[in-house]
Amino acid sequence: MTATEPSTAPLRVLVADDEESMRHFLQRGLRRLGYEVDAVADGNAAVAAWLRTPYDLGVLDVRMPGIDGVAALGRIRSSDPEGLVVLMTAHGTIATAVEAMQLGAADFVTKPFTIDELEVRLRRAFGLRAATRENRQLRSLLDGPDQGLGLIARSPAMVALTQQIDLLAQSVATVLIGGESGTGKGLVAEALHLRSERRQGPFVTLNCAAVPDNLVESELFGHAAGAFTGATRSKPGLLLRANRGTLFLDEIGDMSPAAQAKIERFLQDREFLPLGSQQEIRVDTRIVAATNRDLHELVRAGLFRQELLWRLDVLSVAVPPLRERREDIPLLIARNLERLAAKGLPPRSITPEALGALTAYDWPGNVRELENAIERMVALSGERTALGVPDLPTEVRGPGDEVSREGDDNYEAARRRFDRLYFTNLLVRTGGSITEAARLAGISRGHLHRRLKELDCDVAATRDASRGNPRP
Ligand SMILES: Nc1ncnc2c1ncn2[C@@H]1O[C@H](COP(=O)(O)OP(=O)(O)OP(=O)(O)O)[C@@H](O)[C@H]1O
Ligand SMILES: [Mg+2]
Repeated sequence: MTATEPSTAPLRVLVADDEESMRHFLQRGLRRLGYEVDAVADGNAAVAAWLRTPYDLGVLDVRMPGIDGVAALGRIRSSDPEGLVVLMTAHGTIATAVEAMQLGAADFVTKPFTIDELEVRLRRAFGLRAATRENRQLRSLLDGPDQGLGLIARSPAMVALTQQIDLLAQSVATVLIGGESGTGKGLVAEALHLRSERRQGPFVTLNCAAVPDNLVESELFGHAAGAFTGATRSKPGLLLRANRGTLFLDEIGDMSPAAQAKIERFLQDREFLPLGSQQEIRVDTRIVAATNRDLHELVRAGLFRQELLWRLDVLSVAVPPLRERREDIPLLIARNLERLAAKGLPPRSITPEALGALTAYDWPGNVRELENAIERMVALSGERTALGVPDLPTEVRGPGDEVSREGDDNYEAARRRFDRLYFTNLLVRTGGSITEAARLAGISRGHLHRRLKELDCDVAATRDASRGNPRP
């Protein structure tokens, strides 16, 4: 698959009517309007066809041999809760739109009708569903931490990433999102959906790390009634719920081996088997996956399937760590201060010195760590309106502040303390490498050696400290 492959196929409509002339009339008319149309002659065949590959919309006659259109509608919607069905009635079977809606239909038409009349109803049904979904997405954005303001991208690295997202959104190919913890992989997955032609379809998330291993499969693929103890009713899986939309598999490195094998098969055939069912289901679902783990490493350790990695890694996106996009930091802080103010916490500004320190810090926990830091600072700052250097978390505060705290001793002692802090920080950053630290400081290696001895600095301890450091 390539990035230029269109994101969605033509809309598929299923026609069910026992009269052959009616089937032909609908097939011909709807095909001319650009729909892909299948036609069947009774209710059972309609349900079977729908369960095999969900349609975008069904046009079902009410009176048919076997199970009628109303019963077929019920079964379709119990497996595909968002399934759209328009019922066709001869005079007298269904009298009102209300009655049809109560049965779960999107609309109804009374025979005889023209293709144009039907087309108006189909468009209205599609439009209504799209609007409902858009509202839901808008609402979840507004309720969510992000408040619908989207991905902040001022730094060159993030500008490049958003351009890449726009390109990848055009395709149906699977995308694998990598990046350290807290960099915004979840937001990137959502942006891929919202910028694609599928934006009106569902965006469904499965956090593979949060769902117990034995439940991942039934969550993803659904199950038939009686598939296991406690499964009294059949349940549609997330893959089906995300039909025509995007399924986001978060923390895919934590997926169980059994689920890995099934997802791999789905990516190959675009079909899957719900647990305990004999009926393959085919859906048009785009898969986006994310992980902060090294999947190649997991493959080597025998914990992740090599073939699945190949299939996932068709297109990949690397979300850069925050320290490589520092230009975004002031805006991220501003947005977080607004978000907290909206929650009723007193509005805050921030002093240039504090902002400088926050921008210079390395943020091993990335945007999530930054968000937590701001929240803590606001919570602990009492009634003051401007956050300053004293409010900063200790790890963010530079050595300068430590030094000025005890400004009452002599210059030599203050300088010793500054140098100790400065060189210790430098050595932690370089993983204890004196050569590298000297290079960064712009002094000779010999000079640094002497100074460290005078200061009684423990170089080995800085090596230990730097193990927890993301970028030695
Ligand atoms: N560019 C950005 N603009 C606005 N908010 C961002 C941006 N990047 C990250 N965030 C915010 O940072 C927080 C962490 O992001 P997210 O949960 O997506 O991280 P993640 O990469 O999925 O981390 P993990 O691997 O730990 O799951 C979220 O609150 C998210 O809204
Ligand atoms: Mg995440």
